[in-house]
Amino acid sequence: MATTLAFDVYGTLIDTQGISQKLYDIMGDLSIGFAYSWREKQLEYAFRRGLMRCYQNFATCTAQALDYTDQLFATNISTTDKKTLLNAYETLPAFADVTESLITAEKAGFRLFAFSNGSESAVEKLLQSAGIRSYFEGVISVDSLKTFKPNPDVYQYFLEKTNSQVENSWLVSCNSFDVIGAISVGMKGAWLQRNPKALFDTWAVTPTLTVKYLPKLPELILS
Ligand code: 2OP
Repeated sequence: MATTLAFDVYGTLIDTQGISQKLYDIMGDLSIGFAYSWREKQLEYAFRRGLMRCYQNFATCTAQALDYTDQLFATNISTTDKKTLLNAYETLPAFADVTESLITAEKAGFRLFAFSNGSESAVEKLLQSAGIRSYFEGVISVDSLKTFKPNPDVYQYFLEKTNSQVENSWLVSCNSFDVIGAISVGMKGAWLQRNPKALFDTWAVTPTLTVKYLPKLPELILS
């Protein structure tokens, strides 16, 4: 049975900080803190909507988090600039090491899927514009279940939709909440530590493996 890799999208394949230049043009030096807060709030809104069972898609979480962060930083972003930012979010770039990693994983015989909180159409657009869609067998979105990671149902759904066996399936993510979510349903979890200062959650759950350079992932899984 082939090994299946479920790649998280935002923050793992796709660089959410790719919005930084546009933010800088609007607010100058506030942009670094703003980008970080916006991303944190976006994820918080997804967690809360999942818990409250009042689903709105991830793009809505992103837009509402932008409104909140705008108020928090008192940046008074115009409606036009907000549209520019949200449009840019739909075509964020991939991290520089992603193409090489996907080619290596494909050559190793793994089945590759994008697995995301983003809607299928949003993820398709992102992967196309980043030039990496062709490496994936498919895109699996939590939108079908109207909830978000790390609800265990979404990982089960991934396994069912891709016809994968839990013991041969890896979730690959920079987000420790995602890695813990996958391990909790019996999948293997590879935590991508792009930044040496990034911390894994202190939940007494450790990643099946930690990878610091994504192209090394296939070699580490096979070793
Ligand atoms: C995703 O793509 C959680 O942002 C993450 O699902």
